[in-house]
Amino acid sequence: MKYDQINNELFKKNRAKFTAQMKPKSIAIFNSNDIYPISADSTMPFQQHRDILYLSGVDQEESILLLFPDAIDKKNREILFVRETNEHIAIWEGAKLDKEQATAVSGIETVHWLTEFDKVFFSLMTESEIIYFNTNEHYRQSVETQTREDRFILKCKRDFPGHQVAKSNPILQQIRGVKEQEEIALIQHACDITEKGFRRILKFLKPGVWEYELEAEYLHEFIRNRSKGFAYTPILASGNNANVLHYIENNNQCKDGDLILMDVGAEYANYASDMTRSIPVNGKFTKRQRQVYESVLRVKNEATNMLVPGTDWAEYHVEVGKLMTSELLGLGLLDKEDVQKENKDWPAYKKYFMHGTSHHMGLDTHDYGALKTPMKSNMVFTVEPGIYIPDEKMGIRLEDDVVIMEKGAPFNLMRNIPIEIDEIEDLMNS
Ligand code: GLY
Ligand code: MN
Ligand code: MN
Repeated sequence: MKYDQINNELFKKNRAKFTAQMKPKSIAIFNSNDIYPISADSTMPFQQHRDILYLSGVDQEESILLLFPDAIDKKNREILFVRETNEHIAIWEGAKLDKEQATAVSGIETVHWLTEFDKVFFSLMTESEIIYFNTNEHYRQSVETQTREDRFILKCKRDFPGHQVAKSNPILQQIRGVKEQEEIALIQHACDITEKGFRRILKFLKPGVWEYELEAEYLHEFIRNRSKGFAYTPILASGNNANVLHYIENNNQCKDGDLILMDVGAEYANYASDMTRSIPVNGKFTKRQRQVYESVLRVKNEATNMLVPGTDWAEYHVEVGKLMTSELLGLGLLDKEDVQKENKDWPAYKKYFMHGTSHHMGLDTHDYGALKTPMKSNMVFTVEPGIYIPDEKMGIRLEDDVVIMEKGAPFNLMRNIPIEIDEIEDLMNS
């Protein structure tokens, strides 16, 4: 791990929030992710499943967390199973957690080797009536591979057909959506690393630079600041590439007179940051670029102020749509008639701004979090309006990450990342 160890009090609090919502006589199980194969003996870098991470801090493959608040023997109320380590593994793969280290990371006293799981689990299942499965109910999920959680669910249903089942995901969606202060500090840290990357780019970018060179500059800055790298696949889209919303090729040359849209965020300790900045390749905005940029920035600022406790996510999007409509009228991209005859299900502004404005942000870039109930303080959201104009070979998006406060405007975790035109031009030309 490149990051500093997180105080295990966070994971204790997270577990307490989860178990408080469990039904009597129930067990919940959380599995690590697999290490995904490429071919031959190659594998993808390991990425821990965010749920076991959230509840235990264990950032290691082949781990299982078992929560059983009503276990007869107190020592069985929370158990961690980790892969047995030995000298051979230590030499070839590097040290894995031993039992004492697993306790130090997680705050869980009872740690077994994974090989003991079946025996211990069977014994505890005889004390319980309900098993919580951790299915993926994220509103954007689309998973085709079978995960370790999936395999566990299939086996468990076969081995214990008499148990009732319950779902962990709705509880996790709710509790992970509202961040602890320690989590906000980790997200802030990720945002600060992203800031360093962006400032490096302001000095590096000039006509003729390739998009992948910018990607390399960001990665260099991220890793030297103890990040594993990008929180998500970065988008470095110069000129008309900015109109491809998920452009990730990053293989074009940046041209004089074009803007470049950079949707890039560092991770830190598995917490994401999610930033977008759109800046001129030659360090100077044209009059038209400036006009469109100022429109996007106004929408971002006004939308941000709507993120307060009690706001309804769907209604918020309707209000942001109204702000955007007014800006597009001002820019001459829409006229009054377009708006008067618009389809309410696909309003006229969507021609130029076709994606959502905000999503929860945290351990996952598109994080868990309630979206059908009013917003609460300590939720972290992105704010990311954009205007995309293929006819002008220009696309501008601006994105910050903010924390909803109990009172007043949200706290902007990206407040130090330059966004005003004058500051960007000054930094690029100094
Ligand atoms: N970078 C992904 C997003 O902005 O949602
Ligand atoms: Mn985003
Ligand atoms: Mn983004």
